[in-house]
Formats: sequence, C-alpha cells, structure tokens
Amino acid sequence: MKVENRTIFENDNLHVLRGLDTNSIDLIYLDPPFNSNRTYEASVGSEAAGAAFKDFWTLDDLDNASHGELADREPELYHAISAAEFSHGQSMKAYLIMMGIRMLEMFRILKPTGTLYLHCDDNASHYLKTVMDTVFGKDNFRNEIIWQRAATTKGNLKKGLARDSDSIFRYSKSDTFTWNVEAVTIPYDMANLDAKTKRQYYCVEPETGRRFSLTSLTAQTYDPNSHLTYDVMGVVRTWRWAEARMRKEIAAGHIVQTRPGNVPRYKRYLDEQKGKRLNNIWVDIPNLTARSKERIGYPTQKPIALLERIIGASSNPGDMVLDPFCGCATTCVAAERLQRQWIGIDLSPKSYKLTQSRLQQNGMLEPVIHRKDTLKFYKQKRTYKHTLFGIQDGKCNGCQVPFPFRSMRVDYVVATSKGGIDAADNLQLLCSACSSMKEEKSDAGTTDSKRFKS
Ligand SMILES: C[S@@+](CC[C@H](N)C(=O)[O-])C[C@H]1O[C@@H](n2cnc3c(N)ncnc32)[C@H](O)[C@@H]1O
Repeated sequence: MKVENRTIFENDNLHVLRGLDTNSIDLIYLDPPFNSNRTYEASVGSEAAGAAFKDFWTLDDLDNASHGELADREPELYHAISAAEFSHGQSMKAYLIMMGIRMLEMFRILKPTGTLYLHCDDNASHYLKTVMDTVFGKDNFRNEIIWQRAATTKGNLKKGLARDSDSIFRYSKSDTFTWNVEAVTIPYDMANLDAKTKRQYYCVEPETGRRFSLTSLTAQTYDPNSHLTYDVMGVVRTWRWAEARMRKEIAAGHIVQTRPGNVPRYKRYLDEQKGKRLNNIWVDIPNLTARSKERIGYPTQKPIALLERIIGASSNPGDMVLDPFCGCATTCVAAERLQRQWIGIDLSPKSYKLTQSRLQQNGMLEPVIHRKDTLKFYKQKRTYKHTLFGIQDGKCNGCQVPFPFRSMRVDYVVATSKGGIDAADNLQLLCSACSSMKEEKSDAGTTDSKRFKS
C-alpha cells in the first residue's frame, strides 16, 4: 500500500513492511539494535526521556511463526542462521531470525535501482553479512563502510584495543543503482592541508602561492602495426587531448614546459579540484557527545551528517527514503533537509513527537503524519506448520533431529479417529521417517497428517 511522504509509524516494523508496496522505496537505511545484550534508555531530563529499547534476544522473543516462515520462504537463509547458532548460540539465532524476516521484506519493497544501508557493529556484523549476501545476492554487496565513531582510546586497554567503529553494509538490489559521487567528495581545506595532499601537490607558484602538480600530457596505446611505434614494445604515444582542447589549455596557462626540449606537462591546480574522494573508512564524522548541539538524548542517536552523506550518495531529490528502526528520526530529518520524501517506523511512542520537534528545530514546518495501524493489506500466509516449526525449534518431535521445513509433516498427536481434536496442542511436526513409522503402527494406517500439509 502506498504511504504518504512524512509519515511516522508507531509499530513493529515487520507489520508495516509487509504492507508496503513491492518496488516502492529508493533507499533504506536501518540502524537496528546490534545484539549488544543490553538495554538502552534516554538520558534523564533530556528531550527524549522515557525512550528505551532492549537489545538482548532469546527465541522466546520471537513470534514462533517467524521461525517457520523463514525456513519455508528462504531455506538457504535459514541454514545460514542455523550455522550462526552453532558457532555463536541461540541468542544470535533469535536475533538473526528477527533481522532475516524483516530483510526479506525490505528487499521486496526496494526499487530495482534502490540501495540499502545496514548499520551494525562487531557484535553481529559478520553474521549479518551472511544474511545480507543470502537475501541480496553476494554480487550486490557494494561496500562495508567503517565509521570511526570518536577516535577514542577508552575501554579495557589492558586486554586489547579500544572498539571504536561501526560497520555499515551497502547493498544494491541490482547492478543499476543510484550513486552520486559528489556526496562522497570532500572539498580540500586549504588552510589545513594534510601531508599527503601537500606531497601530491608539491609545487607552489611563487607569484600566486597556488599549489599544483605536474601530470603527463601523453597517453599510451599498444599498437604493434603502427609506424608511429617508437619503443621496442610497440607502445604508441599520443597527446592526451585533440588539438582544440590542447590549444584551450595552453591559453589557460595549464600547459608548461619545465625546460626547453622537455615534453610539455599539465599543471593541475589544487584549488580547481572538486575535492578528495572518500574511501570506505569514514573518520571525519564524529559521533555525538553530551555537548553536541543536535543531541536530544535518544539512546544511540546518530549524527545528521552521517545520514546526509548516505542519502546524498544513494538517492536523488524527490526519492523515497525509509528508516524502519528510525528512533528519533535522524534519517527523516536528513532526508527532509535534502528534499527527499521519507517514512520512519519505530516501536517507540516517542519517535513521532521527537521527529516533529526536530524538524521544527531545523526550520521545517510541514506536519508529520502519525500512524499506528499496521497496513493490513498483505496476505497472511502463515500456517500451523510455521508456528510448530518455531515451537519445535526446527526439530522433528519424534527423533529430535533438525530437518528442513519442507521435509516436515504436520501430524495429530492423538489421531482424529481416536478422538484427537483439531487444536494446536494436539499437533506436532514429524520428519517423513517418523511420520511413516507412526502411520505403519497405527491400526487404521490413518493419513491424518495430510490435512495440514502446506
Ligand atoms: C539504534 S536505535 C535507532 C537510532 C536512530 N538511528 C537515531 O538516530 O535515532 C534502534 C531503534 O529501533 C527500534 N526498534 C527495535 N525493534 C523494533 C521493531 N521491531 N520495530 C520498530 N522499531 C524497532 C527501537 O525502539 C530503537 O528506537
């Protein structure tokens, strides 16, 4: 179902995601709980006071049917999650099921040209990467951005290094995606040039003080048949540009001959360059501190500059941006500032009020739509089988061995022919071997289980 710009949903994002239209969102940024095994609360007396969320996970936290639904819809993903359970434990499994089921919906609603950024940290990043590779396809992985939060050296340094970075995975839905390189090009700070830039632009014009570097004006092509070849390898040297462009550059004073007889070179002025392209390690956006002006006290609030960079790089004005774990709506504020449309979702009743007030503080007066409904337009395809799979933790109730969802059969504990009833507590999942064995033993050889096959 189409949703209006500037909407905040106060709800479990799974219900809202299920109701959003397929291929309708240009950019998704999510900053979910990281499986850090703690609870977060807003600072007392802050604007966000009262906001809190928990970040520890057990299988009991999950709706049992999610478990079975994941095993049914995406068996490869379920196997990846089971592998995480073996190496890390049940809490990671519960966390990844929660994330996996939502990730399938996010992939569905993303436009074919869309991008998703998943913010996480080393508590679960390596397992989440497996989930993402399975849902998006490994070829659609674009970057792991390492965001240095504060250049800190705090922590238990007697036993190791300070943990000071988050990971942000960038995935596209296909190999045609929005990418604006200007958003990841940082203008040079002429007053405080770093040593590397000074080395690169090592010449200074005495009359003007302008820095420049000298670069080659020739290009090489390999042409073994050409009579122009002048080295033994058959390399042909040509001017980099055609005559008209060369003349234009000479007139602009961009072409110099350092000594008579030398090949002319191109003078690349530093102040004419757009800036420095970022790589995947971002150290220039510090995390918020207690003194930061934009901080409102919401636990784990992210800097607007970080979201502006992400939104600027992977969307265009007018595009629809979604944050399904929006907290105090940093993504929405950044999207509004960059003239994008946006939708935010959060369980916290605080999100809507904080969004409204943050937008006003940023001089934006458009009203925010507050919705508490769940967009109940999706088809509920869950069955008893999904729920039983979760209750039994993917294991056959006979031999207790884990089996793929499709290999399980729903069985009456007490057959209907013997008075068993059609109720959840009289149903169980059995593997085919246990189910056949039970059928053979039963007097009537009943095939009651077939009634619940999905
Ligand atoms: C790490 S915080 C996000 C902070 C946000 N990026 C910001 O700058 O304010 C995670 C948020 O996810 C929300 N959350 C957790 N589980 C959720 C769910 N199932 N549906 C919607 N929101 C959820 C929490 O209430 C919390 O606000």
